This record gives sequence, structure tokens and C-alpha cells, in this order.
Amino acid sequence: MRSSTSMFSFLLISMILLAITSMVLHSTCMAHPPPLRKGFYSASCPDLERIVLRVMRDAVVRNPRNAAYILRLFFHDCFVQGCDGSVLLDDVLGLPGEKGAFPNKNFAEAFLLVDAIKREVEHVCPAAVSCADILALASRDAVVLTGGPHWEVALGRRDAVVASLKLANIDIPTASYNLSTLISIFRSKGLSVEDMVALSGAHTIGFARCFNYKERLYNQSGTLKPDPNLNVFVLRERMMVCPPIGGDGRTYPLDRTPFVFDTSYYKDLIRRSAVLYSDQVLESVALGPGMPLVNWFAGDARLFFERFSEAMTKMGSINPLTGFEGEIRRNCRLRN
Ligand code: HEM
Ligand SMILES: *[C@@H]1O[C@H](CO)[C@@H](O)[C@H](O)[C@H]1NC(C)=O
Ligand SMILES: *[C@@H]1O[C@H](CO)[C@@H](O)[C@H](O)[C@H]1NC(C)=O
Repeated sequence: MRSSTSMFSFLLISMILLAITSMVLHSTCMAHPPPLRKGFYSASCPDLERIVLRVMRDAVVRNPRNAAYILRLFFHDCFVQGCDGSVLLDDVLGLPGEKGAFPNKNFAEAFLLVDAIKREVEHVCPAAVSCADILALASRDAVVLTGGPHWEVALGRRDAVVASLKLANIDIPTASYNLSTLISIFRSKGLSVEDMVALSGAHTIGFARCFNYKERLYNQSGTLKPDPNLNVFVLRERMMVCPPIGGDGRTYPLDRTPFVFDTSYYKDLIRRSAVLYSDQVLESVALGPGMPLVNWFAGDARLFFERFSEAMTKMGSINPLTGFEGEIRRNCRLRN
């Protein structure tokens, strides 16, 4: 009798312990989905990186601007809900995607390119690789193909099933933001001031449209005057391209070498000839007295490349969906 009671209580206690352990395990699993890691697809899709690079190389040869489109698209993905491919979702009835957001209006070609990469990847590794990871890899390749650094991309992102038009209009910084606003947006994404200055070096490739730099030429912060921090020689040149009224779509290269990933962007900031107001304000950033970041990056490509790669890894790790979260989209434009 005694022994069966103790047997019973032993069983009861064991069952309670087991239940608690599994609850704890379950909740830690939920609270800590697995981190991104290098080589995530080495078994499930060993050719992945070769495929992405091949399609990207063809695309950049066809139109060098494609490198810039893809790199910017990745930034816009990561800053809205995290790097979850949400920016790639098309509008569906009643559920607007992020494509209609003001900063996302110039990406038609980039979306087609992501589709093309995804098609090739699906052909070889069906239903294995997320659109979010494809965009992360394509961005690294965009940098490499224009002469920038190579880094190993941590992978294992999964795709969001929802997008947020509202956040896309809030979380993506615009060219008229001042330094303190830019710093606080990057901070809110877990990125430091140094990360921000390094990441803005992405503007070493690509172009801006007139409406994004017009205010600097004619009416900086409502003063009805040009930005005093704009070199007068480049001011004249830009006024010819970008008139006070109209011409909103006319483009201007973001630095002297818009197809080459180099330090010219930072050199242009020092000459006060950045195109965007949000770029020129970075010139004053210092890590401490006598530690001007922009001057350092301008004079040392290796340092810039190293910091840029690190910051891209950090940006690429903003709120990813991993483990059992999200899904592997079959078509980057639609949830499964
Ligand atoms: C610091 C905050 C940033 C602001 C305010 C900003 C704003 C802008 C604006 C207004 C344009 C011009 C778009 C157009 O007129 O079509 C642009 C272009 C671009 N941005 Fe940024 N950006 C920022 C950071 C970044 C980051 C972190 C990246 C990537 C890591 C990036 C990558 C690019 C690229 C590659 C282009 C050229 C795109 C093209 O040629 O169409 N930007 N950005
Ligand atoms: C920066 O812009 C924000 C929002 O427009 C404004 O509240 C703030 O006063 C500005 N900061 C500086 C230093 O100009
Ligand atoms: C100049 O900018 C201010 C505010 O930024 C705006 O209210 C004003 O209408 C602008 N003036 C012109 C002539 O564009």
C-alpha cells in the first residue's frame, strides 16, 4: 500500500516535472528562434550562391544600375518589419503591400530581377530558399560586382506573410531628415552612428531623382535659399538638371562614380558636394574629438569596406523570421 502510494506520487511528480520542462523548452524556443548562420543552405541548396551571383552578374552587365536598385531594396526590406521579404509582396485585395509606399516607387526593375533569381533558384532547389535570403545574397553580390567588398552572408531568414504599408511610410528615412532624426531611426533598428555612416556609403553607387534633392537647391528647410552646405559650383550644375518647377524624375549620380563601389562618396561629402541633404549632414559626424568618420572612410578604402561589411551583416539581422516563423514563399510576390 505504502509503496504504491509513493510510486503514484513519484509518477505524479515526474509528470509535473516533464510538463514544466516542456513548457519551458517550448517558450524558450518561441522566445529565441534560431539565429541566422553562414552556410545555412550548404546541404539543402549547395549551388545557391553560384546561381544568385550568375543572375546578378548578367543583370548588372545588362544595366549597371541594377546593383544600386537591389542594394537599396534590401535596405528598404530590413527597415520595415525586419529583413523578411515583406517589401516584395504585391498588393492583394484589401491588403496593400509596401510597394505603394512613397520611398518604394522606383523598384519595378528590382522586383523583376528578384523574380528572375527566384525562378532560377526554384528550378534547382524547389521550396527551399526564402525570398528574404535571396535579397540578402543579391545585395552582397551587387556590392561585389561593382568593386566593393565580399563578406559571408548569414542566412536562414524566412518570408513574412504580411507587409506593412504604414510602416514603410514611417520607418524608411527620407533625404530631408536632419542628423538627429537619422541617428534615432538607425538606433531604433539597433544600428549605431558608425553603422549609419558606413551603410550610407551604399550611396557610392546609384542615382537620385530631382525631387529628392530639389529642396537643397532652392529652399533648404523653408529658407527659400540653397543649402549653405552645398558647394556653389555643384549647385549651379545641379540647378541645370533639376529646375525649381518640374523635372522631378531627372536623375543625378549620388557620387562621381555611380557605378563603382569606392570611397568617392565620402570624398564628395568633404567637398560639400553630396547630392542628398541626408548625406551631407553625415560629414560632421565624429566618434570623438579628432575622430571624423567620413574623413577616415574617405582616406581608407579598406577601413570603409570592413565597416560596411560588418554594418551590412548587422542590418541584415534586423528582426529576421527564422525557425518555424513565416514561410518559404514559392513566388516572392505572393504568400503561399
Ligand atoms: C541614411 C539614410 C538614408 C536615406 C535618407 C536614403 C535616401 C535615399 C534617397 C532619397 C535616394 C534616391 C532615390 C531616388 O531618387 O530614386 C537613395 C538612393 C539609394 N540608396 Fe539610400 N538612403 C539612406 C540609406 C541607405 C542605405 C543604408 C542603403 C543601403 C545599404 C542605401 C542604398 C541606396 C542606393 C544603392 C541608392 C541608389 C538607388 C538608385 O540608383 O536608384 N541607402 N537613398
Ligand atoms: C530635426 O528634425 C526634427 C523633426 O523634424 C526636429 O524636431 C528637430 O528639432 C530637428 N533637430 C535639429 C537639431 O535641427
Ligand atoms: C519652401 O519650403 C517651405 C517649407 O519647407 C514651404 O512651406 C514653402 O512653400 C516652400 N516655398 C517654395 C517657393 O517652394
